[in-house]
Amino acid sequence: MLFATGLLACAGPKPEDEPVVPPHEDTTHVEPEVSPTTRPDLYRPQIHYTPLHNWSNDPNGLFYKDGVWHLYYQFNPNGIECDFGGMSWGHASSSDLMHWQEKSPVLYPDHMGAMYSGCSVVDHDNVAGFGHGAVLAYYTASGEKQLICLAISTDGGETFRKHDHNPIVPSTGLSNFRDPKVVYDAKRGRWTMLVSRGWDLGAEIWHSYNLMQWDFDGIFRVDIERCNMSQWECCDLLYFEQADKWVAIVSINPNGYITGSSTMYFVGQFDGVTFTPDNDDYPRWLDYGADCYAGVTFDNAPDNRKILIAWMNNWDYAPACPPSAWKGAYTIPRELSLRYIGAHWVLCSEPVKELTKLAGEWSEVTDEIENIGGDYADAWEAQITLSLTEDATITLYNKYGNEYTITVNATQRRIYCNRGGKTGEFNFSTLFAVPSMSAPIEGDEQSIVLDIIVDQSSVELFAGEGSTCFTNNVYPRTIYRNMRVDGVVKEMKVRTLETIWK
Ligand code: FRU
Repeated sequence: MLFATGLLACAGPKPEDEPVVPPHEDTTHVEPEVSPTTRPDLYRPQIHYTPLHNWSNDPNGLFYKDGVWHLYYQFNPNGIECDFGGMSWGHASSSDLMHWQEKSPVLYPDHMGAMYSGCSVVDHDNVAGFGHGAVLAYYTASGEKQLICLAISTDGGETFRKHDHNPIVPSTGLSNFRDPKVVYDAKRGRWTMLVSRGWDLGAEIWHSYNLMQWDFDGIFRVDIERCNMSQWECCDLLYFEQADKWVAIVSINPNGYITGSSTMYFVGQFDGVTFTPDNDDYPRWLDYGADCYAGVTFDNAPDNRKILIAWMNNWDYAPACPPSAWKGAYTIPRELSLRYIGAHWVLCSEPVKELTKLAGEWSEVTDEIENIGGDYADAWEAQITLSLTEDATITLYNKYGNEYTITVNATQRRIYCNRGGKTGEFNFSTLFAVPSMSAPIEGDEQSIVLDIIVDQSSVELFAGEGSTCFTNNVYPRTIYRNMRVDGVVKEMKVRTLETIWK
């Protein structure tokens, strides 16, 4: 393998009064589920995309065209196992970034290898010659070698045909040469491709004027320990016009920030050939949780929006995650922005505004709320404004004694997340339970807003307008539907999020 309109019900007994059932014990009482068809298995996310069945990992080939968002992903069409030899591109599309429809896979393994990660580009001006608006998917054929290949769609991404003369980028002979990401470089009027070099370290930079002939520019590498100890995978490159800065996103595995897989970023300048990071305290992390990997952005998003989706899992334990019909989910699409906070540029991620489509009304609450969304909560969101004069702890819990805590340490100006043994099922892997994950609070503001999104088997935290994020999978007996806050709360509100599976 590669290491390669809900109502808030505040009544009900306090959890201390209830019998606490250890997460693994069978219980006679099973929570009512919304519907056996939309929720065929425990843990199935209700507001995060996951294929109905089978294994999936990295998001691939994200693009937007004619009102439709396309998400392809690493997929095993034959089963729940992570089968690198059978890796294909699964497909889902959405008109609002929230409700996804699963489609037929678009790329299957061939004589060159399995279909590993890659990207798509909409060729508006027909520079490649396949027609105006053709969609060009650059994928990795992973066989004896890893090769960068092209597939073309002339029906808006529903089907692709592989190019007759693959590979499209000359092979460098490296055994690790994968995950192409093509971005338009407006300053030079051409396309840049980053190709990750896995264990060969770094990312190659290539360019093309017609999306077909690619020329080698050089290798982007950063000589810091973390980067030298890990595979480089699934890189991305973004230009933030207002800041006049480029950001390189690099996923690394193993030796991530918490364990296994994590995504780092570098802010700097790109002259079309070389990416030069600013002087800063690297590495910096897109997300400090354990389950945000291989994130890449959409091509052709309207208004130049930079929207990223990541795989919500980690190579350290993904194959071992609790049994269900599916394995592998995707983060809430995140809007990226680059903000100068404190003494440096910070790549911030916040849930896209489209999340509101799933949301009920905000309800102001005080320090504790129980039974959020009643018995049928699909998912929910809390926004808590805390004073940074005192420590605060937020506990998300259910009646089975499962809990997830977020602690804000005002003195240290750090946030801690406890994804330990009390969160739910955890002992499917010795690497899963991490009771103390922590990250800095950026800047010197005296208060902070925590935006928390709770689904059946994940908790995403966007703190300080997305300047400190934690994405973590959890496997509680039921969704955490209660929340308690100890600390100086300036404002706290909650809203329900309705299932996307309707
Ligand atoms: C990242 C990765 C990629 C590779 C794909 C294979 O998670 O290892 O580098 O293309 O997964 O599924």
